[in-house]
Amino acid sequence: MVCGGPEEVTYGLDDVTSHQIKSHHIASHPPVAGSSESQQKCIVIFALVCCFAILVALIFSAVDIVGEDEDGLSEKNCQNKCRIALVENIPEGLNYSENAPFHLSLFQGWMNLLNMAKKSVDIVSSHWDLNHTHPSACQGQRLFEKLLQLTSQDIEIKLVSDVTADSKVLEALKLKGAEVTYMNMTAYNKGRLQSSFWIVDKQHVYIGSAGLDWQSLGQMKELGVIFYNCSCLVLDLQRIFALYSSLKFKSRVPQTWSKRLYGVYDNEKKLQLQLNETKSQAFVSNSPKLFCPKNRSFDIDAIYSVIDDAKQYVYIAVMDYLPISSTSTKRSVSTHPLQGNFDWVGNDFTQNAGTGLVINQADVRNNRSIIKQLKDVFERDWYSPYAKTLQPTKQPNCSSLFKLKPPSNKTASYNTSGKEPLSIQ
Ligand SMILES: *[C@@H]1O[C@H](CO)[C@@H](O)[C@H](O)[C@H]1NC(C)=O
Ligand SMILES: *[C@@H]1O[C@H](CO)[C@@H](O)[C@H](O)[C@H]1NC(C)=O
Ligand SMILES: *[C@@H]1O[C@H](CO)[C@@H](O)[C@H](O)[C@H]1NC(C)=O
Ligand SMILES: *[C@@H]1O[C@H](CO)[C@@H](O)[C@H](O)[C@H]1NC(C)=O
Ligand SMILES: *[C@@H]1O[C@H](CO)[C@@H](O)[C@H](O)[C@H]1NC(C)=O
Ligand SMILES: *[C@@H]1O[C@H](CO)[C@@H](O)[C@H](O)[C@H]1NC(C)=O
Ligand SMILES: *[C@@H]1O[C@H](CO)[C@@H](O)[C@H](O)[C@H]1NC(C)=O
Ligand SMILES: *[C@@H]1O[C@H](CO)[C@@H](O)[C@H](O)[C@H]1NC(C)=O
Ligand SMILES: *[C@@H]1O[C@H](CO)[C@@H](O)[C@H](O)[C@H]1NC(C)=O
Ligand SMILES: *[C@@H]1O[C@H](CO)[C@@H](O)[C@H](O)[C@H]1NC(C)=O
Repeated sequence: MVCGGPEEVTYGLDDVTSHQIKSHHIASHPPVAGSSESQQKCIVIFALVCCFAILVALIFSAVDIVGEDEDGLSEKNCQNKCRIALVENIPEGLNYSENAPFHLSLFQGWMNLLNMAKKSVDIVSSHWDLNHTHPSACQGQRLFEKLLQLTSQDIEIKLVSDVTADSKVLEALKLKGAEVTYMNMTAYNKGRLQSSFWIVDKQHVYIGSAGLDWQSLGQMKELGVIFYNCSCLVLDLQRIFALYSSLKFKSRVPQTWSKRLYGVYDNEKKLQLQLNETKSQAFVSNSPKLFCPKNRSFDIDAIYSVIDDAKQYVYIAVMDYLPISSTSTKRSVSTHPLQGNFDWVGNDFTQNAGTGLVINQADVRNNRSIIKQLKDVFERDWYSPYAKTLQPTKQPNCSSLFKLKPPSNKTASYNTSGKEPLSIQ
């Protein structure tokens, strides 16, 4: 682009610029001034304007491509040799046989994660009820104290919730410097936030059924997985966190999502990783559809694909299938388990926000395979004396298959807020 005489400057520039140039020209150089000098000025100014425009364009496109939160993490440099552990909360008084599978407790798993934290702790949770006077709330209180303590250690804490109004825990953490994002799920699509996952130091991940609720650490049956040193998974999960954070102060979901919120891995392009030396593939899924930008698998589709791929078995454990039932843990499906934070009730996929995880492993016979471990946990519960059939006319005959004590005393002797503690069909 060449800038000709002073008159021609107006072409291609907006009114403000051309006025500025003209008035500048008149003020500093009365009509007698030489035309070559003003031509030079014009070129300089025009060049500056162009540079500025290009710079602004670059800054915006850069911000949009590499998110500020991603800390230089990319598909090329992320860590995909991860360790994984199952974590469970088994309600007090629920007794399994001595040789039943046993895993790290949810509380211990969470405390380990918080003890590892050096830089950041990001938590999405549907519940924030840790400080309670109930005798079995002590683990919840300890977790709360640990979080409060971290805020005073220069560790960045970001929390996402859809319940701020009545949570003293969130208020207390916010006062101590935690950044709290409130998602007004009612306004977005009349749903609730049901996701629960943690990201620690952009390295470690928890994803599972439990939210930050004292009952999840005492009375409820919960199941989750913790990934250590797994920044490749973080790369993707972080984008769901960023999507939630981007809704801060917003009462509407944007028409289009920013590129930096697109999925990194999906059903088509799975993350290749090692989980304790076992070759695996994984991807995260999300719901509702409204929260699925490009290349983000929708939960229902992920579940369909897992069920479609099943060759031997499909095991599903959920809290609710239908409004009539109340059941245990969450779900884990087939040779590709899916760990998510939603129940299988109508509006869970259409309205409530949930995040799921699908893991594939080729070799699932090994006891160190996470899928084998999930399957064993499922079978432990299924054949436990606490399981009750939901169809009274179809009593399963399991005694021929398993050498467990016959479940003579089928009714569990405790109550969790009026819900059946465990009943699997
Ligand atoms: C579980 O074991 C404990 C201690 O052995 C006992 O007090 C409790 O009643 C048992 N619970 C059930 C449901 O059997
Ligand atoms: C926890 O709850 C107790 C009693 O309700 C209250 O006295 C205490 O201040 C709370 N702790 C925090 C850190 O808010
Ligand atoms: C959330 O959205 C609903 C519906 O738009 C509105 O009535 C309510 O005041 C909002 N809540 C907050 C805390 O902004
Ligand atoms: C994660 O990686 C670091 C550095 O390689 C290592 O020191 C640490 O033990 C690993 N953590 C786990 C839980 O494997
Ligand atoms: C989405 O996935 C498709 C197929 O895996 C890929 O070709 C495309 O580049 C991806 N788009 C983005 C924005 O990542
Ligand atoms: C897996 O564990 C079961 C029971 O703990 C044991 O009997 C079996 O030998 C183990 N299998 C392998 C391959 O280690
Ligand atoms: C993976 O290794 C860790 C220890 O590094 C262990 O705690 C965990 O149980 C192992 N996971 C599986 C699925 O075996
Ligand atoms: C259950 O299976 C065992 C062993 O196969 C058999 O003896 C028993 O009669 C069966 N019970 C019912 C109710 O079918
Ligand atoms: C069931 O268990 C309760 C307490 O755990 C006990 O009092 C009761 O006698 C048991 N019932 C049967 C039929 O074994
Ligand atoms: C269990 O809960 C139900 C409903 O809340 C209640 O009717 C029942 O009495 C409770 N049973 C026990 C043993 O507490």
